[in-house]
Amino acid sequence: MPQVTFMPINKTVEAEEGQTLLEVSEEYDIGLEHACGGVCACSTCHVIVQDGTDEALEEPEDEEIDTMDKLVSNQTLHSRLGCQARVVGDVKVELVNWPPREL
Ligand code: FES
Repeated sequence: MPQVTFMPINKTVEAEEGQTLLEVSEEYDIGLEHACGGVCACSTCHVIVQDGTDEALEEPEDEEIDTMDKLVSNQTLHSRLGCQARVVGDVKVELVNWPPREL
């Protein structure tokens, strides 16, 4: 099973292959922010892949790329949306919006 490490809390958990980072974070109460409920409409779930290469996540769909281009001002080459990025291998990601805001 792929292992996902969430920073800055430095917590490593096991994921089912194909789960989104948001689904993994919900399962383990990590606190990945998701203001739109995970429908690719807000970008509050922005994460940056730190380790494990970008191939540890499935390639982004056009909708994810479009949302990041429109809404993520601090986008990097390794930015992904946690509600869209599906895990396929070991990966370490930084939660950009940490700590999560009260919703
Ligand atoms: S939770 Fe809104 S875009 Fe991911």
